[in-house]
Amino acid sequence: MTARPRVGILATGDRWHVQELGRALERLGCEAVACPATRMTGRIAPGVPGAGPAAGGGPSGPKEGAIGAGGVDLGALEALLVRFIPPGSLDQIVFRVDALHALHDGGVPVVNPPRALERTVDKHWTSRLLAEAGVPTPRTIAAEGFDDALAAFRDMRDVLVKPLLGSGGRGIVRVTDEDLAYRVFRALEMQRSVFYVQEFVPHGRSDLRFLVVGGRVVAAARRTGAGWKTNVAAGAEMRPHRPGPGEEELAVRAARAVGADYAGVDLLESEAGGPLVVEVNGIPGWRALQRTTSVDLASEVARLVHERVEERRAEALPAR
Ligand SMILES: Nc1ncnc2c1ncn2[C@@H]1O[C@H](COP(=O)(O)OP(=O)(O)O)[C@@H](O)[C@H]1O
Ligand SMILES: [Mg+2]
Repeated sequence: MTARPRVGILATGDRWHVQELGRALERLGCEAVACPATRMTGRIAPGVPGAGPAAGGGPSGPKEGAIGAGGVDLGALEALLVRFIPPGSLDQIVFRVDALHALHDGGVPVVNPPRALERTVDKHWTSRLLAEAGVPTPRTIAAEGFDDALAAFRDMRDVLVKPLLGSGGRGIVRVTDEDLAYRVFRALEMQRSVFYVQEFVPHGRSDLRFLVVGGRVVAAARRTGAGWKTNVAAGAEMRPHRPGPGEEELAVRAARAVGADYAGVDLLESEAGGPLVVEVNGIPGWRALQRTTSVDLASEVARLVHERVEERRAEALPAR
């Protein structure tokens, strides 16, 4: 009999999603293991390669293995689901994501793959990949310099200035006035922010959110806000939405463009020029979306992770 696969859920806080995913994984016969995202460790032992448990030291040495988190040996897991990586210093973020790379390269399936996490956390990189994949996305200029940001504003005149690594709509400001642009960019310059300046797309007060899992849209909803910002965190309401075939295809292509196994995709219906993808979230939440559908969304995500486990087990079998 084969052992129950141990699957880690990397998170800090975020109890609702962790519990939902834990239950869904257990239903699929996995053992769900909580892995604290703020307590990762890396151990390197001379002459012992790899991310497996062997590098953890002798029998009396630490039990965490080469890469751990709060006492869990991540290298001994059959898959790791990244649920939440909290904001942190540059050191903390680089360390955590690079440790996930090492784990993934060492053969433990990480969902989403660390490369996809990096791509989706950086709005400029996401926008670029979307455009390169032929997925329509608004005109955007990212810049480090104040003068370039101001020139971008002068070029477009009605823009959103977004935090490069932002989420939940927090801190996004609409700028239509040159003096305001000047003040906003000067203030951001003091924080050494990268300017992400995007053409404002008139879309009424709603947009569409799709949850794509394994190349399929498993849920879709219309979010309606009080103004142009339609994040649930900003007070928007969600209603079920039946995606048109074109929308579904766009959402799936957007997730694929960033290499995400599953993703939350935000789509604006521009009044002038059809649908535009504005965001691909590599660690999407679905608590509000769950209320709009009878499909169990945690089960969809868990099933995807379980598939990775099965694929890896199949690869490990000796060839016949
Ligand atoms: N170019 C745009 N024009 C008009 N509204 C936009 C544009 N980009 C984003 N929005 C609105 O702002 C919200 C947040 O933007 P988004 O890029 O998804 O950032 P976040 O990561 O903070 O959710 C979107 O859900 C949408 O309602
Ligand atoms: Mg968004």
